[in-house]
Amino acid sequence: MCGIVGYVGKQDALSVILSGLERLEYRGYDSAGVAVVEDGDVHVTRARGKLIELKKVLQSRDPQTMAQLGIGHTRWATHGRPSEENAHPHTAGRISLIHNGIIENYIELRKELEQQGCTFRSETDTEIAAHLLNSFVQQDMSPFEALKKTCARIRGSYAFLAIDANYADRILIAKNATPIVIGLGDEEVFVASDIPAILPYTRRVIVLEDGDIAEVKVDTFHIENSGKRVDRPQEIVTWDPITAQKGGYKHYMLKEIHDQVEVVAESFRGRIIASSERVELHQLELTADNIKDISRIVFIACGTAWHACLTAKFYVERFAGIPCEVDYASEFRYRNAILDAQTLVVAVSQSGETADTLAALEFAAKTSPTLAVCNVVGSTLARKSQNVIFTHAGPEISVASTKAFTTQLVTLYLFAVWLGQQREFLDDSLRVTGIMNLIQLPHALAETLKCETAVKEIAKKYHKVKDFIFIGRGLCYPIALEGALKLKEISYIHAEGYPAGELKHGPIALIDEHVPVVVILQRQNPFFEKTLSNLREVESRGGKIIAVTDAHDHAELRDIAEDVIEVAYVSDAMSPLLLTIPLQLLSYYVAVYNGTDVDLPRNLAKSVTVE
Ligand code: M6R
Repeated sequence: MCGIVGYVGKQDALSVILSGLERLEYRGYDSAGVAVVEDGDVHVTRARGKLIELKKVLQSRDPQTMAQLGIGHTRWATHGRPSEENAHPHTAGRISLIHNGIIENYIELRKELEQQGCTFRSETDTEIAAHLLNSFVQQDMSPFEALKKTCARIRGSYAFLAIDANYADRILIAKNATPIVIGLGDEEVFVASDIPAILPYTRRVIVLEDGDIAEVKVDTFHIENSGKRVDRPQEIVTWDPITAQKGGYKHYMLKEIHDQVEVVAESFRGRIIASSERVELHQLELTADNIKDISRIVFIACGTAWHACLTAKFYVERFAGIPCEVDYASEFRYRNAILDAQTLVVAVSQSGETADTLAALEFAAKTSPTLAVCNVVGSTLARKSQNVIFTHAGPEISVASTKAFTTQLVTLYLFAVWLGQQREFLDDSLRVTGIMNLIQLPHALAETLKCETAVKEIAKKYHKVKDFIFIGRGLCYPIALEGALKLKEISYIHAEGYPAGELKHGPIALIDEHVPVVVILQRQNPFFEKTLSNLREVESRGGKIIAVTDAHDHAELRDIAEDVIEVAYVSDAMSPLLLTIPLQLLSYYVAVYNGTDVDLPRNLAKSVTVE
């Protein structure tokens, strides 16, 4: 997830681009760069770190003439470390290019381009697009035609903005599965990954669609899709700047809940090879022997990431047949855990900066091979671990983790399927079905989000309650814990998660008409029937039941529960991801009704860098 801004017009392009990028820093902030056209020449400037670092470099340049065209980028790394070389724009011959998204077939394209004599200066997937585009413009075709040819070679998600030095009066644009908007002014055109970047300048926007290729000049624009000219509608945006930054949502948390449809796809993009129906995790440096040697996996994490690990235990044991343990990082670091060279230690963390997780990894690395599952490229955890798989959730701003959790689940699921495949534990049909199920997930998530209005009503009904209990069995148990944590964090209501079968061993004493019980139920048997029995126990003590389930139209459940929220169904293993969504929404709306500071809840920090 990166921020993109382009401008052509009568104002100083550099200041329009920098002010637009400032409003997009929430999309990425590990490096930034611009390419501007001054007196017909393209000047590229890049810097590692936040936008302020780029501004310092730009200030130290000799005074230039005013730029009337340019493109700019703030980066959130997916391929390659945060560094100046990996910052955008990338240049190749006449081309300067910026990109948001992931190019899935970059390895094969890079090899091909290297064979043709191209020299690469970065570790990014983006640079191949700059080289490809340059190779086509060199063949005497127009930059627009060359961009069409480039996109035809690329598989994956992209929003590209490019400048051809020989046609420096225009910005070239391509869009697939990554948002891009064109803003129209009076003899000026803006381009951006998100509307907030251009809102101070214009409210008249065109939202590009997948497959669109466009070219904008100071007073014209041209859009094609599948080789034909298209007219996209112009819309007037009425958001205020703050709402705009949150994508029109009231809080980052709600935006990030909705972002999940897009980011779960980013998590598996490029890691599923359609032709061979196999999972590929390119970055891992585990040899076939290393993988065969693993006798046990120990997962370590904190908070929400720890809940993802509990789910991963199910995945790895089921798909790869390797016994797993899950430890709180804060406990693991002090309990003299027994480790050996055959135990793989997997540390899971959104930020990659959680002090307890880092210390636990450091302890484990003395004896065992280590792997990090992490969202932030360049974070301490990613650097200190021998292997790393990034979750590609993009920056998460809300303290309450939502999209970081679901992308951790996708990544850990992929990891489990990959282990099963490499160890030849998983049979072909289960592997292929497992992969196909993942592909259906974004659509199922979008379907599940339709429960929002119903969940909001339930939140309204229960927001004054003092205690909640969350229960689930099997794969639903970690989700019960996650639902309870989310509610506590942002609404300050006491909530506990339990395995449903444990209720009768103590917690059932808490149940009365004032304590709602949120039950997470999978249609999978025997869990479904057994959980129904647990619910009868709750019902007979007057407890109010809110059921979140992937079983549709179940008469008995509807009879027992006061409220039933149904989520889409893809497979049993995918259900935890879908069952999480109503719980995120429930905590969100309970907090909203209680008037708490949803994105910055009291006493909490986004990244816990102290013990
Ligand atoms: O950055 P990490 O994933 O290592 O953070 C771990 C926890 O602090 C974090 O998941 C926390 O529990 C969240 N605020 C939960 O919403």
